[in-house]
Amino acid sequence: GQSLGVHLLDISWYTESMRAGHPVVITDRHKLQLNTYVMELHFLDEDGRGVAFRRAAAVLKALPAQVTSMSQLRGLPCLGEHSLRVIKDVLENGESSEVESTKQSERFKALKILTGIFGVGAKTADRWIREGIYNLQQLRDSGHALNQAQKAGLEHYNDLNQPVTKAEANAIGEIVQKAVISVLPGSQIALTGGFRRGKLTGHDVDFLITHPEEGREVGLMSKVVSWLESQGFLLYQKTTRNSYLESKDGPARPASNMDRFERCFSIFKLTKGEEQGTTQPEKNGVQTMDNRLWRAVRVDLVVSPISQFAFAVLGWTGSKLFERELRRWAGHEKDMSLSSHAVFDNKQNRYLRATSEEEIFAYLGLEYIPPSERNA
Ligand code: CTP
Ligand code: MN
Ligand code: MN
Ligand code: MN
Repeated sequence: GQSLGVHLLDISWYTESMRAGHPVVITDRHKLQLNTYVMELHFLDEDGRGVAFRRAAAVLKALPAQVTSMSQLRGLPCLGEHSLRVIKDVLENGESSEVESTKQSERFKALKILTGIFGVGAKTADRWIREGIYNLQQLRDSGHALNQAQKAGLEHYNDLNQPVTKAEANAIGEIVQKAVISVLPGSQIALTGGFRRGKLTGHDVDFLITHPEEGREVGLMSKVVSWLESQGFLLYQKTTRNSYLESKDGPARPASNMDRFERCFSIFKLTKGEEQGTTQPEKNGVQTMDNRLWRAVRVDLVVSPISQFAFAVLGWTGSKLFERELRRWAGHEKDMSLSSHAVFDNKQNRYLRATSEEEIFAYLGLEYIPPSERNA
């Protein structure tokens, strides 16, 4: 593949597991600190600088050596004036006063709490904060009418803010596998999202479902959801139908970044396995017993026709920042429109077919980037 020049995709990404195997990286306290700082500033995003900070953090995360002086950062992409100011502060004073005061602010703390509710985004949280709602109790007392997602989010708040482990993701995978096989033999599932990138924990578990015969996947989602519901596996679900076929404007250029697959955003009721037991870790010095034999886990299901499967896998493996950068690269450098459905070559005025991620990277003129290096 060709060289990317000064571009975010130039950096090879380190997964958390790779970090663990590289003491030189994990002992780099400054760098870890810098990541946290820069990443958390996006909560104050008011003018689009959130993405800028995330890009900057991704570059820092990928550096092979400890940052001890500003001169090491010369020539690196995505480090803007504001990010550099924060980094300089950390290098000189051990911390950034701007970030520290941000993190101490009531507004920042409230944003973290409220956006931690499934179904609540930054816009809703911001509106509530302006009304004086800073925590869950104030939200409950406010009498605000919550939608179904937010109600479920509030009800399962603690569970959903507890990281999902790889073992739990595997257990969910077995349930989803059983569901699809039961309703349509021959169907296939693929683990996508952060777990496919090798992350050890996640905020949810993402699956892509398909069938090797084109067209057989039509109507599959509602059958899978009915099966899961009948077995008592779902605490909440919202299914959105496929709008891909209905679009007139061409599938590779949707109005938003959202794809049009049939999808289901759900909350699973996962029975706790033997290895987890029912004894919770010490909380405030007190050993608490959790009598529940289950926990709530966020699960995303997406159904794709086999003809679009490679694009869907690429699009749903993430990270979100990696996807954004990949699409930007396709548009700016190759005059192509990449989506989770297809890639459209504007110069040839046609769609390019692909049955594997490798082919898609080749179309984009890039060397194959494995999932473990997409943790931007
Ligand atoms: N995605 C998407 N459309 C959505 C939601 C997610 O295309 N409405 C894609 C994202 O672009 C990403 C992938 O689904 O590529 C996974 O998203 P998500 O589960 O939010 O993040 P993860 O990378 O899996 O991280 P985490 O471990 O926190 O879940
Ligand atoms: Mn700025
Ligand atoms: Mn995920
Ligand atoms: Mn997800």
